[in-house]
Amino acid sequence: MDKLVIQGGHPLSGDIYVSGAKNSVVAILPATLLLDVPVILENVPDISDVKICLSILESLGAEIDKLSEGVYRISCLYVREHEVPEELAQKMRASYYFLGALLGRCGKAKAAMPGGCYLGERPIDQHLLAFEALGADFHLIEYKNETDGEGYVGAVELSADHLYANHISLNVVSVGATMNAILSAVKADGTTTIENCAREPHIVDLANFLNYMGAHISGAGTHKITIEGVRELRGNAMDGSVEVKTYSIVPDQIEAGTFMIAAAATRGDVYIHGVIPHHLRDIADRMEECGVMVEAIENEDIVHVCVNKGTMFHGTNVKTEPYPGFPTDMQPQMAVLLALSEGQSNITESVWEDRFKYVGELKRMGANIDLTRDGAIIWGVPGLHGANVRACDLRAGAAVVIAGLAAEGTTEITDIHHIERGYSHIVEKLRSIGADIRRISM
Ligand code: UD1
Repeated sequence: MDKLVIQGGHPLSGDIYVSGAKNSVVAILPATLLLDVPVILENVPDISDVKICLSILESLGAEIDKLSEGVYRISCLYVREHEVPEELAQKMRASYYFLGALLGRCGKAKAAMPGGCYLGERPIDQHLLAFEALGADFHLIEYKNETDGEGYVGAVELSADHLYANHISLNVVSVGATMNAILSAVKADGTTTIENCAREPHIVDLANFLNYMGAHISGAGTHKITIEGVRELRGNAMDGSVEVKTYSIVPDQIEAGTFMIAAAATRGDVYIHGVIPHHLRDIADRMEECGVMVEAIENEDIVHVCVNKGTMFHGTNVKTEPYPGFPTDMQPQMAVLLALSEGQSNITESVWEDRFKYVGELKRMGANIDLTRDGAIIWGVPGLHGANVRACDLRAGAAVVIAGLAAEGTTEITDIHHIERGYSHIVEKLRSIGADIRRISM
């Protein structure tokens, strides 16, 4: 059980580099099950969700070689299993992508209900709607609570003799269901259309990866995706070439946004490298409303965040929405900047109802925040002070790290395994731009 210890109050300054996107790699790793050739993935972040995904792949029979830091050769040619081990599935939300990928690969799949951060109820009805539309039967396996004997759905089992293309109209804009619909339709017979899709960068990345390997997916990044089913995904091996193709995971929008807010909240001057600036547009807009200077250097994939001397931050309103709106995954981090911004700010959370566990932790550090029915009201304070706090979930953890960097005094953060699910080498990266942050064993 390690903890992070931060001596706050130092403006961050210099150059920091973003890793590959967590939300993308957790779908692309399961997608390798659909390939008929090995593949090399680059820019794979060193985070615990990736380790879990790799363990699941290995348990199914995949051969995985780590070629260098962040570079893996994956071959799923001899995968015979279709059941995701329960203890691994329960460790992360994205384990449900193995359902879509295994269904697409072999017409059957079984996985325990996903774990990961608790942000509210996590229904999968839209995923099931997509699987069913393509011809799969699903069976929800009920378990009983040991304490009260109440039943709950513990696992999902899917089977299909054959997958047929269909028209899928999602009732809710869901990243997970859009990803799973793509994974299960990519090899189905005929042309599938998916309406009311999510448009996040990681959906585009999954489609780009599959297309690079031979799929025919168009419209990713819009509300309607069309998939012409293909029989095989062999990359360029169709032409007889034996070269293993290499795909690089898209940069992490949320890690980049987290560094942007850390730079601003510490009144720093930081160049964030390896980003796709247009993915950060809405985050940058809200930060600029607070008085932060955000400059996108498009051709060089850099965002420069800087706070001019004497700048007073002022509050603004933030509403989380599916992409291209303000990401729910940036809401806790943004709250730290708002906590340091003069006047009143309002946050409306429209994706997850239970995304405010960080509020109690920020209050311990001197923030003035009240919860409302679907959000929070924040009154800015001149500064925060260090405290002993918890990383309540992944992005709540990022928020208390930023708060600790901006606060006067010492902040100690426990439960940092949440942070390690999604941030690669966060201590080393922040230290490289002047943060006084250490990881110590308790
Ligand atoms: C969501 C976020 C994603 C973020 C992730 C972790 C959106 C659209 N999605 O993705 O950006 O990285 O959380 O914080 O912002 N829903 C249903 N039925 C379903 C599936 C989802 O009703 O079958 C609802 C959920 O309850 C939620 C909303 O749809 O309110 C979005 O869920 P979804 O996008 O599927 O969640 P994630 O894929 O986890």
